Amino acid sequence: MDIIQGIKERRSINFFELGEDLSVDTIEELLDLSNLAPSSFNLQPWQVIVVRDPEKKRILRECAMNQPKVEEASAVLIIIADPGAVEENRKKVLDSWQELGYMKPEMRETYQNMMQTLYGPGDSMKRNLFAVKNAALFAMNLMIAAKGMGLETHPMDGFDETCIKKEFHVPEQMLIPMLIAIGSLKKGVTLLPRAFRRQIKDFVRYESF
Ligand SMILES: Cc1cc2nc3c(=O)[nH]c(=O)nc-3n(C[C@H](O)[C@H](O)[C@H](O)COP(=O)(O)O)c2cc1C
Repeated sequence: MDIIQGIKERRSINFFELGEDLSVDTIEELLDLSNLAPSSFNLQPWQVIVVRDPEKKRILRECAMNQPKVEEASAVLIIIADPGAVEENRKKVLDSWQELGYMKPEMRETYQNMMQTLYGPGDSMKRNLFAVKNAALFAMNLMIAAKGMGLETHPMDGFDETCIKKEFHVPEQMLIPMLIAIGSLKKGVTLLPRAFRRQIKDFVRYESF
């Protein structure tokens, strides 16, 4: 499937085929593709918990406003934004840039300082926004990649973050922008037509707001 077709055909699926397992190989193929998402300074501030176990899905459903698709989908991914990725990954980013010739060694400190200035201290709003925006790009890449692999998805932010953090042992400083249910469309279900989208004129301005 080409990218344009994938974008046009992606829908948030409410009804998943029950009892269809996704292998670790398939999930990891999908995650490898998603991981090619762009990110600020290539810092990749995302973590993912793959939930496939029926009992874990039941618990996740309870944290997610009892949405049936959480239990019915083959797997649900907890997408996590990690504000600590600046400190965690910056050495690897700079080493790789240096090795590949993107950056001269004498520029290392400048880039490191730039990251700190742009994304602020570890517990700041700036830092949380950095983590969430990049994790959301990862999530979108994942939904398009899933479509390309013949899978359907459903993003969700209808959940209690405190509950998920507690039940799935997510470190307190991390954020959970969304869950993504993955699987196949339940046989016999016909999707309603795609709901309204605003027109270009409703949200685009040229040159200035
Ligand atoms: C971040 C995010 C959170 C969402 N949360 C939920 C949710 O908790 N439950 C739900 O049924 N749909 C949820 N949706 C799905 C939207 O309702 C859906 O994307 C929108 O209606 C457009 O439909 P489409 O994805 O089929 O084009 C969410 C979508 C996004 C992007």
